[in-house]
Amino acid sequence: MIDELKKEIEGARQSFVHELESIQSPEQLAALKERCLSRKKGVVGQFLARLKGFLPAEKPLAGQAINQFKEFIETALSEAELAHGATAATGGEWLDPSLPASELPLGRLHLIADIQRQIEELFQNLGYEIAYGPEVELEDYNFTKLNIPEHHPARDEQDTFFLEGFDDLVLRTHTSPMQVRYMLEHKPPLKIISPGKAFRKDDPDATHSPCFHQVEGLLVDRGIHFSHLKGTLEAFCRSFFDPGVSLRFRPGYFPFTEPSAEVDISCFMCSSQRAASTPGRGKPDCRVCKGSGWLEILGSGMVHPQVLRNCGIDPEVYSGFAFGMGIERVAMIKFGVPDLRLLYENDLRLLGQFG
Ligand code: PHE
Repeated sequence: MIDELKKEIEGARQSFVHELESIQSPEQLAALKERCLSRKKGVVGQFLARLKGFLPAEKPLAGQAINQFKEFIETALSEAELAHGATAATGGEWLDPSLPASELPLGRLHLIADIQRQIEELFQNLGYEIAYGPEVELEDYNFTKLNIPEHHPARDEQDTFFLEGFDDLVLRTHTSPMQVRYMLEHKPPLKIISPGKAFRKDDPDATHSPCFHQVEGLLVDRGIHFSHLKGTLEAFCRSFFDPGVSLRFRPGYFPFTEPSAEVDISCFMCSSQRAASTPGRGKPDCRVCKGSGWLEILGSGMVHPQVLRNCGIDPEVYSGFAFGMGIERVAMIKFGVPDLRLLYENDLRLLGQFG
């Protein structure tokens, strides 16, 4: 009985293929589909209806043969439908839908976003977590808790935008308030970086913009000292810029770190080609360091004990370091972009160069 069924199925398959080949229009195709697959009257349905008559031992084999037939028909029909549909859409012109599509221009991350992600990844590899903070910040976190009391001259250097009707809010002038937020909510050990936008009341020029991007770093634990800061920044700069760069720490001042240091790297365009023992002697015509041999890249220091105290952390037990880096600045240095404004003009001829 099963052999007979298989023979009949084969016969039905052949006449289906034959009919499919002679199809001229979508209507004919729909009619063929109906004849094959309609529940009761369809060819497949009729085979299925005969399953009842099979012996239990033969039933699975018979069912399998019918199902294979059904799948064959369904695949052939859907391929034909696709081809006919596509031909109809092109007004009768032949079209092969299996051909690869023509290439579309692909977008990419903006340079700033790209650099931000590279920095995030490097610090994640050093075990840092990423914490994002709000751009509209409490004045208390942006200044006061960071050891910049009201009337302190350091507030003038970071003139910012206030929000009408909200005396206690500012557009944050740096990403440092995220240090405060994080320390208030977490107990040490802490190890975070916090990238994001910052705002200052600056007129736009080649190196200033009222809105820019920074990455803050903060590490607090027992027994943290300045050499941890140096080692961390050295590891970062060597993987981000060039394995040959040297770092220079210059005394600096930030109210929320003590001691504070401005950090320069040896110019990787010209100095690194010399002996590592003589970094800082740049080539006079170097377009990146202008001959000085050094490039200023960030501010840093040991977290001020008062800041730890303001955030509920005992400075007798814990110490930490922090740093803040301008993303535009490192992007400009790394790619030799001479004017910050170029990064915001969204000229694809420029931005497309950094892929
Ligand atoms: N917030 C400082 C700035 O914007 C940078 C900084 C961050 C300095 C952390 C020290 C520690 O200039």
